[in-house]
Amino acid sequence: MRQTFFLTLLAGAFTVLSCESTPRKAEEKQTQTAIVPDAKWWKEAVVYQIYPRSFKDSNGDGVGDLKGIISKLDYVKSLGIDMVWLNPVYSSPNKDNGYDISDYQNIMKEFGTMEDFDIMLKGFHDRNIKVFMDMVLNHCSEEHEWFKSARSSRESPFYNYFHWWPAEKGKPPYRFSIFDEKGDAWEYNKATNSYYLHYFADAQPDLNWENPQLRQEIYKMMRYWLDKGVDGFRLDAIAFCSKDTIFPPLPKEYDGNWPLYYASGPHLHDYMQEMHREVFSKKEIATVAEAMGDVERVMKFVDPERKELNMAYYFEAIDFGYLPKEYKMPDPKGYDFVAWKKIYAKWTDAFAQKGWGTMYLANHDQPRMLTRWGNDSPEFRDVSSKMLTTFILSMRGTPCYYYGDEIGMDNIKFDKVEEYNDIELLTNYAQVKAKGGDLKRFLEGMKISSRDNGRTPMQWDTTLNAGFSTGKPWLKVNPNYVTVNVANQENDPNSILNYFRKMVQLRKKEPALIYGDWKLVDSDNPSVFAYTRELNGKKLLVLLNFKAVNATVNMAGLDLSQAKVLMSNLITPSSVSVSIALKPYEAMILAL
Ligand code: GLC
Ligand code: CA
Repeated sequence: MRQTFFLTLLAGAFTVLSCESTPRKAEEKQTQTAIVPDAKWWKEAVVYQIYPRSFKDSNGDGVGDLKGIISKLDYVKSLGIDMVWLNPVYSSPNKDNGYDISDYQNIMKEFGTMEDFDIMLKGFHDRNIKVFMDMVLNHCSEEHEWFKSARSSRESPFYNYFHWWPAEKGKPPYRFSIFDEKGDAWEYNKATNSYYLHYFADAQPDLNWENPQLRQEIYKMMRYWLDKGVDGFRLDAIAFCSKDTIFPPLPKEYDGNWPLYYASGPHLHDYMQEMHREVFSKKEIATVAEAMGDVERVMKFVDPERKELNMAYYFEAIDFGYLPKEYKMPDPKGYDFVAWKKIYAKWTDAFAQKGWGTMYLANHDQPRMLTRWGNDSPEFRDVSSKMLTTFILSMRGTPCYYYGDEIGMDNIKFDKVEEYNDIELLTNYAQVKAKGGDLKRFLEGMKISSRDNGRTPMQWDTTLNAGFSTGKPWLKVNPNYVTVNVANQENDPNSILNYFRKMVQLRKKEPALIYGDWKLVDSDNPSVFAYTRELNGKKLLVLLNFKAVNATVNMAGLDLSQAKVLMSNLITPSSVSVSIALKPYEAMILAL
């Protein structure tokens, strides 16, 4: 349960917010066809996520940086994407790689300067690419000035920026922390003789959102970034920001399900609506919430009538196939594919009624999609990468595509715990160890699911360290860079990279892929994910074989007599007949 909680947390609510004020150039351009009444540029955008630490290092210190990104602006543009999601670049001691912010209005030293940031932002804007920032608002870093002052004395003006439990009241009521070896969210602080709350690492104290002064500081800071010209925010772990500050004992039914009991606190949506008034309504922007929980909870963030956020991502599908009550431990029996498709169907149907969702198979909290949802063996890596790309870019919901997936990067699969960097993994390793658990089994599981698999440096070419850095990279480069890299794929018209580019263009050309109704076809098919997208009489059929076997699809009720192949991941696609037989991992989009 707790594993599900965190996973849920990670993918949370990703919302893009827009206000109805002056339309910007990109919106005019992208929604000019006025295909549907509620057309929005952020619904039509393809998002490309850049993990700055791992994208490109400009100065040989082994850490990716803003100048590195600047040197790759034309590459990003060449992908055809519309918006970049940048993981946190603010000052941070990096206990959780930038998700512990010590200064919200400064750039992390390793990443560069504010001047670099401005040049980068302008570089993207000059190329008609929008940029949205990751905003970590549930907690900051223990090195933030607010916390340094708060922890020095109860008299500090910043004491109430955090949650405290005075020691004279005895031990605080149990709360769980995901990045704490003891799993204890309260940390004793001697100078104040009180405990502070941290749902994440003890270096990430939770901010006290009940304090209106704190909230105003946050809104001011967010407006600072908007004034700079950023185009939106991803609100990290936002579902946790409101707490029942009485901290009542957890009920029996809790059963380790911390996302359920700690998320969606009593004032969460009051705060989101206040943030909308104070920040989002000032300018046309995109907002994405990391939202956890079921449809009802996630929908609250994005129901337009509520005036909160405009996009959310959910976790139910990405968290699928792990053993219960264990940390991201893949079920050795695999996952129930039919049930997985039905999760997508449920959420896609929900967002068709209200709000807007996102579509992703990977991000910085996930392993590589090729290993997790495709097949990274030499035989199938190419075809299954392209199949997954077809999936992401043909679903309803704004596609969020993770750097490196466009060249088919896969899990590095570290053998030794020493090779890992991620606080999540290291904490969980220590816990398994403390309990005398099976460490070998744990590390085997992590080869599939751990976050560092998705954080290895971008593979640019065959030179030293894949062209990422001339120094020792902060995290090992996947040795397969000698074959899997951008340079190799640039000039090959059939490469994974060029397939991604074509798929992005197809989405732009076919409004049915963005706004069209979505309907599952042959839902119980054990190998194939098939669905139609239909808009204004134009019907597309998407066929995706997720398995390494030949498969057929039951086309009952669909007229294939005029079917035309718009996209295929094979040089010679299977022929279209009454019943289509697909090869392993074959993907096809047909116009009916
Ligand atoms: C979010 C981030 C994740 C981070 C956590 C704590 O889930 O995506 O990377 O570790 O919040 O900030
Ligand atoms: Ca660097």
